[in-house]
Amino acid sequence: MKLISITSGKGGVGKTTVTCNLAMSLAAAGHRVLIFDGDIGMANVDIFFGVRAKMTIKDLLDGEPIQECITKLVKNIDLLAGGSGLYDLMSLSAFERREIVQQIQSIHLNYDYVLIDTAPGLHDYVLHLNSVADECVLVITQDPSSLADAYALLKTLNSKYKMREFKIICNLVEASQGAALFSRFSEVVEKFLTLRLSFLGAISEDLVLKKAQQMQRLIMKQGIESQAQQQIQEISAKLVDIEAARQNDQAYSGLAGIFFPASGHA
Ligand SMILES: Nc1ncnc2c1ncn2[C@@H]1O[C@H](COP(=O)(O)OP(=O)(O)OP(=O)(O)O)[C@@H](O)[C@H]1O
Ligand SMILES: [Mg+2]
Repeated sequence: MKLISITSGKGGVGKTTVTCNLAMSLAAAGHRVLIFDGDIGMANVDIFFGVRAKMTIKDLLDGEPIQECITKLVKNIDLLAGGSGLYDLMSLSAFERREIVQQIQSIHLNYDYVLIDTAPGLHDYVLHLNSVADECVLVITQDPSSLADAYALLKTLNSKYKMREFKIICNLVEASQGAALFSRFSEVVEKFLTLRLSFLGAISEDLVLKKAQQMQRLIMKQGIESQAQQQIQEISAKLVDIEAARQNDQAYSGLAGIFFPASGHA
């Protein structure tokens, strides 16, 4: 299981869009995916899939077993919904926040990927969710305030949780501009902060995607041909490759431990 957070400094940059379509792409490749809608109180992943979740994180906090709180969205994709209206991120106690994070970590055996769609910004709970993820994916756009807020989020995660590696998706950019935006951003970040950014890919502003979403449809679900669909597929394939490489590395270091034990004769 891989726990992947999708986050941003500024709101409205496309986290939920990326999370849902990435989930569809991973599921189509046969992976079992759980989406956790971490934007508690403003949750909308279920709406993007055109359903309304009956059970939410609120039920989990009220003592329901986590299995009961999960909504099946489509084949290979389940959702732990964040709910909306009655309560919000700000009103969660530290105990409740910890409880949610522990429950997410405990459910991992049933899934290949858990994708966490976070709320934007520097809220403690958002930082905590990002800190427990195996991969933290930061969504940025060309908007200067998105870049400034992304920088602030990286700086906080780095200083508070010692996080050093982040994956970047540039959304709402022309395909040819994505790599350049990443370079500009990473140059500034790596100049002032001790951390490493890697480029996961760019997603173009896509009117087909926007229109589909307004009708509560996902381009990946409908199989609608669009540039964004292609780009998201490439991003998901890259994530799977990164994961495979990491597992190989772990297997290799495990083997190295057998052949060259620390207390060995070398
Ligand atoms: N690549 C894209 N092309 C066209 N429209 C997009 C694209 N990405 C996102 N959008 C649109 O931008 C809006 C915001 O996207 P989304 O809800 O995914 O952002 P968010 O980061 O999750 O927002 P919030 O911080 O409020 O949770 C939506 O209307 C979505 O359809
Ligand atoms: Mg969102």
